[in-house]
Amino acid sequence: MENYKKELIKELLERIDIVEVISSYIPIKKIGKDWYAICPFHPDTKPSLRIRDDKKVFNCFGCGAFGNVITFVSKIKNISFQEAVTSLAERYYPDITIEINREYWTEKRAIIKANAHLLFNFRKFLTSKIGKPARDYLQTRGIDEKMWGTFAIGFAPQDPYTIPNLLLKEGFDKETLIKTGSIKEIEGTLQLIFRNRILFPITNSKGEVIAFGGRVLDDLISPKYINSSESPVFRKRESFFGITQALDEIRLYGKCIITEGYIDVIALHQHGIKYAVSCLGTSITSAHIEFLRKIASDVILMFDNDDAGRRAILKNIETLVKAGIIPKICILPPGEDPDTFFAKGGKVEELQIKDGIIYYAEYLLEDPLKKNDKILLSQALAKVQSLLSIIYSDSETQAEIYIREIASKLNIQSSALRSDIKKLAKPFVPINHPQNFIRKDIPEYELEILRFATFIPESIRFVREYIQYISSEEVKQALSVILEADGNLEFAISLADENSRKLLMEILIEHREYPEIGWENLVESTLQRLAIEKIRRELPELARQAVKDPIKKQAYLNMLKKLSYLEGYRRGKPKKKF
Ligand code: CTP
Ligand code: MN
Repeated sequence: MENYKKELIKELLERIDIVEVISSYIPIKKIGKDWYAICPFHPDTKPSLRIRDDKKVFNCFGCGAFGNVITFVSKIKNISFQEAVTSLAERYYPDITIEINREYWTEKRAIIKANAHLLFNFRKFLTSKIGKPARDYLQTRGIDEKMWGTFAIGFAPQDPYTIPNLLLKEGFDKETLIKTGSIKEIEGTLQLIFRNRILFPITNSKGEVIAFGGRVLDDLISPKYINSSESPVFRKRESFFGITQALDEIRLYGKCIITEGYIDVIALHQHGIKYAVSCLGTSITSAHIEFLRKIASDVILMFDNDDAGRRAILKNIETLVKAGIIPKICILPPGEDPDTFFAKGGKVEELQIKDGIIYYAEYLLEDPLKKNDKILLSQALAKVQSLLSIIYSDSETQAEIYIREIASKLNIQSSALRSDIKKLAKPFVPINHPQNFIRKDIPEYELEILRFATFIPESIRFVREYIQYISSEEVKQALSVILEADGNLEFAISLADENSRKLLMEILIEHREYPEIGWENLVESTLQRLAIEKIRRELPELARQAVKDPIKKQAYLNMLKKLSYLEGYRRGKPKKKF
């Protein structure tokens, strides 16, 4: 769990009175020095739930339920632990939430700054005299000098003390340097975890350096790769190598290639395919999917064509399909990965793309069919059916296409396959969608505008002009409080009424990140969206009136024109602002 959350939890447990909280949900009674209640977690007649004020815990003699105040709230409201933390903090100590978020951000910024300085030094070493073997190595791997710049490749020298010492001299404190996950303290001395390694900076979608991956120059040395350890700014399961370099193209084409390795991403980029990233050698996680879902509809897996790579593809197809995404697979020649494919003279045009479901079915069924092994075949078929049933729950039509194709490959009746799949199909539940505690009745783009005003103080001057277009009264209220406080959030919260304060707290707790450069485009396009939605809301009524009234008709036509202008603007056609 992230540090700031641990802190928040500690602080909450210390400050919140468990007796008070529990008594706000169920009647309790003091017997001796402890409190007792009828247990709400099982059918209970006698008071078997004991609350111990001194230890700040509860336990039930009947059903065995036990825990602290957070567990209690989570159980009784049937929400996750994390949501219970949030709800308690919000209810009892909004100041803690804000304070801890602020500390957390300060810490993150310090680590990112230290990483930037580390990178600067790694880059310097790559071009220095000691960097010669690293430069030679990059050349033998066929990585162009242009890519050294694009991916900000660096080099960590054999001596692990020089760079940490330089950073200490520059004024970084020891704790921050250790928190980067790239430096550790051994017997009182700071040293880099990377020695004599090529360094690939791992960045986030804002272009900040969050960690490094280091590769040996000599394949006989193991491990071949090491990564910075996880830190408040680096979680492996959420990170993509190459996302900074790929983001624009992923957005532009709505496409994303996922590979296994650092060098694969660089090789693809070098050959003109810039929408490629890698998941740092691990599987695709729900966090990766949630990020990609918003920007790419087309996910293409391009893994090593070896046993491990093929196993990884199957597993990732399952994960993606469960999340409602049908990936495509780019099949490389046997034994190759994207990097070796290009290194051996492979051309982009030769790459074969296949539908992920068909790949999955063919891959699993091929061997059992060839061997005519009934047992293996039924095992493989069960897996294929289970995957198809997930698609079936989401879209019968889409599943139907696969059912026909696969049935014909197996030379069986598609009706038989279909009826089996129907039996397996469950209502579609996407995996691990992030918990959103913001109410669903507010349009997302309006919440987004509130987030801008909360997290990008400079955006307020734009927001001010558009507040009239907001449809949700709550968002309007909260925004006007922020405007009134000139973007000073603490002040805004003290000005806000109960409803706006709650909404603002929810937004604050989400702590979204926005790019420091280029946020204007984001804000502008969301505000355009707001204007479009408002016109769309008003248009039908205006159209009705226009039939009878020529003046209204002109207004209607003007409105239509404005709408088509705005919609064109959003697609990036007109150059000037409206
Ligand atoms: N990886 C890692 N840590 C390891 C091994 C691998 O993070 N100990 C990640 C790296 O992102 C690496 C990817 O997994 O790029 C693929 O690893 P591997 O298949 O071993 O890489 P190769 O393609 O053989 O690497 P290279 O091309 O650099 O020889
Ligand atoms: Mn490779």
